[in-house]
Amino acid sequence: MASLTIRKLDEGIKTYLRLRSAKNRRSVEEEVRVILGELIEGREEPLTPFTAPPAAFTTPIPQRTGAVPEASVTLIIGGGIAAYKSLDLIRRLKERRIEVRCVLTKAAQQFVTALAVSALSHERVYTDLFDPQSEFDAGHIRLARECDLIVVAPATADLMAKMANGHADDLASAILLATNRKVLLAPAMNPLMWNNAATRRNVAQLQRDGVMLIGPNSGEMAEAGEAGIGRMSEAIEIATAAERLLRPPVPRPLAGKRVLITAGPTHEPIDPVRYIANRSSGKQGFAIAAAAQAAGAEVILVSGPVDLSDPQGVTVKYVESARQMLEQVQAALPADIAIFAAAVADWRVVNEGEQKLKKTSAGMPPLQLVENPDILATISKLTDKRPPLVIGFAAETEHLIDNAKSKLARKGCDWIVANDVSPATGVMGGDRNTVHLISRNNGADNGEIAVDSWPAMTKEQVAIELVAHIAKSVTGKSREPAS
Ligand code: C5P
Repeated sequence: MASLTIRKLDEGIKTYLRLRSAKNRRSVEEEVRVILGELIEGREEPLTPFTAPPAAFTTPIPQRTGAVPEASVTLIIGGGIAAYKSLDLIRRLKERRIEVRCVLTKAAQQFVTALAVSALSHERVYTDLFDPQSEFDAGHIRLARECDLIVVAPATADLMAKMANGHADDLASAILLATNRKVLLAPAMNPLMWNNAATRRNVAQLQRDGVMLIGPNSGEMAEAGEAGIGRMSEAIEIATAAERLLRPPVPRPLAGKRVLITAGPTHEPIDPVRYIANRSSGKQGFAIAAAAQAAGAEVILVSGPVDLSDPQGVTVKYVESARQMLEQVQAALPADIAIFAAAVADWRVVNEGEQKLKKTSAGMPPLQLVENPDILATISKLTDKRPPLVIGFAAETEHLIDNAKSKLARKGCDWIVANDVSPATGVMGGDRNTVHLISRNNGADNGEIAVDSWPAMTKEQVAIELVAHIAKSVTGKSREPAS
């Protein structure tokens, strides 16, 4: 690997690196590593070397590239003693990879300085509706719309009254009137102000308008001897509420379920260097494992030899032969759902050579074959630890549906995912699949078998669709407890 000597870089790049690393509180080496990582992930900041310090206080609002931050917040800091907590809030939001642009009301500037806010947010701070630097291109409209969420902390009684009544006589209120983004308020005021009929009316109006509130909490006030409801929520509570609005929790319908999956081919040895195999890539089984894990399941993937990376958060057991696969599957029980996507070799060589077989004048060595255990059928027919839902695959090159239906009966599983693997389809080893879900209990009456044909899609989409069907079917059903 090549090595890089930072000393030997040109002056402009060195200055850029020094400033950027100081800003991000990293060493220069660490910063270079981060930049390279971002470049590889395609989310790098534009790398324009410069010699002048960053013009944080003099430039107009920078245009967003939409690339670097995961989310962005316009934080309006109102004028109240709780404004000091907003400095911590900036840090908490940035820790969560949320970019923060701050607006200070005139009153807020009595409690915190633009300099402190700018140093923490690493952005210029906006204070004035008629600031020629930012208003030459309607900066208040951009502050209102070029963000994913507006947070007002502290939201004073005055600011809330202005919002409820649609005033726009300063930058903060103009942004709040011009926005089409979600707004989260963290009110902070004296308990008497909070309980005042006018504030009650304003809060009710704001809630009707779809504005969200966090807090206020109850506790001691800054004013000596006063206590009650009116303390601004803590920075961490506000940051968590903002994050929940920006990144709503992903549904995890398989949480608490244990899913066992087989994937890939098996290798059946002929001698120490040769084996019988097939063209299965394992992609479909691995995609199902990833989708089940993303749906919240605990996933155990038993795989034959493949050239794929382990899906994140999945326990992977690698095996070679069908017999090893069966062993690992049995060891992984009990499970709520078992999905057998492996292309298991039907036969293995009985007389596996201990040494490499040699060519001899006696002709070809006789390879005697014996049938492998059928893992799907074995698990489907278990009486004690049978998973409540057992799914097999049918890879066929002809009479797809008929063969799959008879496989369902023969193997004793609940569903079969049937796919055509004729060479012309490119399914074996490819990235797309066209499948038919064949089931006994999937909406079919009178013990009839239902066939649900899905359009052609990627193997990842097939996996997501299959997991969605599973989630719908197993909700409420659980495996036998482990003995
Ligand atoms: O009989 P066939 O190989 O077509 O059956 C395919 C289904 O049975 C797949 O789900 C496959 O994973 C499973 N199978 C198995 N053990 C075998 C053969 C197939 O689990 N020995």
